[in-house]
Amino acid sequence: MDLLLLILLSLAAALLGGLYLLGAFRQRRPGEPPLDKGPIPWLGHVLEFRRDTNKFLERMRKKHGDVFTIQLGGFYFTFLQDPLSFGAFTQESREKLDFVIFAKQLVRQVFGFIDTIKDDLKILHAASNKHLKGEGLKVLTEAMMSNLQNVMLHKLGSDSDRMSWNEDSLFMYSYNVVFRAGYLALFGNEPPSEGGEEEAKEKDRVESQDLFSEFRKYDQLFPDLAYGVLLPRERWEAERLKSHFWKALSVQKMKTKENINGWIRDLKQTKEESGMEESMIDRYMFVLLWASQGNTGPSSFWVLLFLMKHPDAMAAVKEEVDDLLRQSGQSVQPGGPLVDLTSEMLLKTPILDSIVEETLRLTAAPLLTRGVKVDMTIKMADGRQYAIRKGDRMGMFPYRVLHLDPEIHPDPQSFKYDRFLNPDGTRKTDFYKGGTKLKFATMPWGGGVSMCPGRFFAVNELKQFVFLMLVYFEFELKNPDEEIPQIDHKRWGFGSMQPIRDVPFRYRFRY
Ligand code: HEM
Repeated sequence: MDLLLLILLSLAAALLGGLYLLGAFRQRRPGEPPLDKGPIPWLGHVLEFRRDTNKFLERMRKKHGDVFTIQLGGFYFTFLQDPLSFGAFTQESREKLDFVIFAKQLVRQVFGFIDTIKDDLKILHAASNKHLKGEGLKVLTEAMMSNLQNVMLHKLGSDSDRMSWNEDSLFMYSYNVVFRAGYLALFGNEPPSEGGEEEAKEKDRVESQDLFSEFRKYDQLFPDLAYGVLLPRERWEAERLKSHFWKALSVQKMKTKENINGWIRDLKQTKEESGMEESMIDRYMFVLLWASQGNTGPSSFWVLLFLMKHPDAMAAVKEEVDDLLRQSGQSVQPGGPLVDLTSEMLLKTPILDSIVEETLRLTAAPLLTRGVKVDMTIKMADGRQYAIRKGDRMGMFPYRVLHLDPEIHPDPQSFKYDRFLNPDGTRKTDFYKGGTKLKFATMPWGGGVSMCPGRFFAVNELKQFVFLMLVYFEFELKNPDEEIPQIDHKRWGFGSMQPIRDVPFRYRFRY
């Protein structure tokens, strides 16, 4: 009898423990945000969240207001959705809100990279400050231009290629060009051998093309990989692709390259000096390839598409680019030297800047996350305060409540090329909500400690690509009435959005 009682008690304890772990007993405490545990124990709202993050968070905001705690896959996430209070999230100290725990988990799950270095983030920031800003940025931008010229303009020589229309799909075309040139600018070129410089350039084109086609396969698996819901066949394919990249970007392979950018070189070297195994450094190189190439290509597609859909924007930017070219004393001539958009010229493009910013407003939708390290209080701009528990997570999704807020950006769904321009043509930076000026009118790069360190380079890449397209090519949609395709809902939260379908277009050399 005693034994039976003991067994029953143990079972009851196990059941209660299980329910506790599933979060069944969590109750909202005084001072905490509204709590919504969702329909499924432990999983909470994860299915609806994954189906359409943007729509789900909007539903929660309408139900609970601009701060709420939801359960997602065993974690309690408090979302802060008031743009005036974003600073409470992005500027909070790292002792309270930690970006690293989260990032480390993701790169381990998605890229197989396990970090063993203590001050990894500091090292990344130091290398980024040196090579993705100031003088370093100039060097990288120049490398980008020469690789764009190689990838985009190598057919310029032949007359038949010059005159005929090329038909292509805009997303794949833009992503391909920007990925390949960006990859070559960072990870280096094939050195010239007996075949000379032309042969080396041809090798760069072939190698970067192969890498892009494998990258694109990984890219398509990425959202399900990040959520850990790949089918067995897809998991196998993801493993194959990872091994492919580790080899293609390996430390040994790098020894055969020249012009490797300082950002990659320094980051590789610090890992080596810290005693990290070479095979792990190979994996890190894939993380860097992903971070640097996964967003800019998709964004370049949206820029060109919006230009083709908005003749006023196209006319204005063409005029800006043509003026700039004239002022720089350059012109496009068949057989003449290739045209360059120098770092100085990049500073004189307010219209193009506004177009890039407007494009990112409509199509960049990162989800920012932090781990809560201590019991803490979040202070909202209007004076409200909320208690947040240690061990929870915090999240912010600025797309819906900042990028698409009609009070901040009137007629928010429309592309307006001059939205970020003052009447005198200078950059517009003052945007308001409830009479208060916002620190950031958009947040495509995230914010605070994890803000994208590649943002200046990314903008330069986009501008260089658009510049070369405008200067060298005529391009148009195959169907002038083409609708702008919808954003792929599976990718909300992952940075630059992708369309659910591609868009046919054609292009040919202008001269
Ligand atoms: C349109 C292009 C780009 C977009 C929209 C973008 C967006 C972002 C966002 C939102 C984050 C923060 C993620 C978070 O807080 O969890 C981020 C991080 C990062 N980005 Fe970018 N990015 C772009 C291009 C680039 C480029 C070109 C590079 C490198 C050359 C780069 C390197 C990185 C790195 C290394 C991080 C991680 C930062 C850290 O861990 O502190 N990005 N990016």
